[in-house]
Amino acid sequence: MLDLGGQAVVLYGRAAFDRSQALPALADDLRPTLPAGTRVEWAYADLAGPSLPDVLDRLAAEEVREAIVVTCMVPADPSLSTWLAGALSQWSADRKSPMSVRIAAPAERALDMAGAVRCVLRHSAVEVTSVAPNLGKPGWSKIPEHQRQVFFCVGARCLHRGAEPLYQHLRARLKEHRVLSAGPRRAMCARSTCLFPCNLGPVMVVHPDGAWYGGLTRERLDKIVSEHLLLNRPVQEAVVHVTPGHPDP
Ligand code: FES
Repeated sequence: MLDLGGQAVVLYGRAAFDRSQALPALADDLRPTLPAGTRVEWAYADLAGPSLPDVLDRLAAEEVREAIVVTCMVPADPSLSTWLAGALSQWSADRKSPMSVRIAAPAERALDMAGAVRCVLRHSAVEVTSVAPNLGKPGWSKIPEHQRQVFFCVGARCLHRGAEPLYQHLRARLKEHRVLSAGPRRAMCARSTCLFPCNLGPVMVVHPDGAWYGGLTRERLDKIVSEHLLLNRPVQEAVVHVTPGHPDP
């Protein structure tokens, strides 16, 4: 086992599947089993986080000497694993932090999945007809009134660049304007997985205008709300691309 004295273990998973349940529970299980003084934290690669940079920033501020990141996704995501080392190296370079960061092998490597499947097959399984057939609630057939849709990327790389607090900022700003929250001018806002131009992140797209915004900041979002969504004037300095067929902003 790695020597963990005075260090932190950061469990890294996907919130889309975990819903803030499995990783926190795993952290609670691990803490009493690791050497005394070892911190066990958790971070997510997507959605609401906490993102890995946020957790590392907190550990560094608390003067933790070393953090070991363990990816706990099953199945592991090879492209995320490939990107992660460089992204964390970038974190170290940007922060100039004395805290060293290491990446352990993905937890999946140590799992006996075939054994797990054999194990569950030994127990009873639920007959599906014991549950009433149901594909969704009646209200889920209705598309709400709206003028625009905003897709805000909270994929792993945008999350790494601070997407989640920016998304919350956008939601808060939209709520301040009744006209943007309901009715024919509503701007429907949804988080999305990777939209592809990760290097331009944090990224969002406003449709049907075809306006792609990059390098988002709170100030830029404020301007996008007050000028684009309220006054129909895209914020030119933040537009990184316009979907073909749409007029340039
Ligand atoms: S993660 Fe946001 S564009 Fe790829």
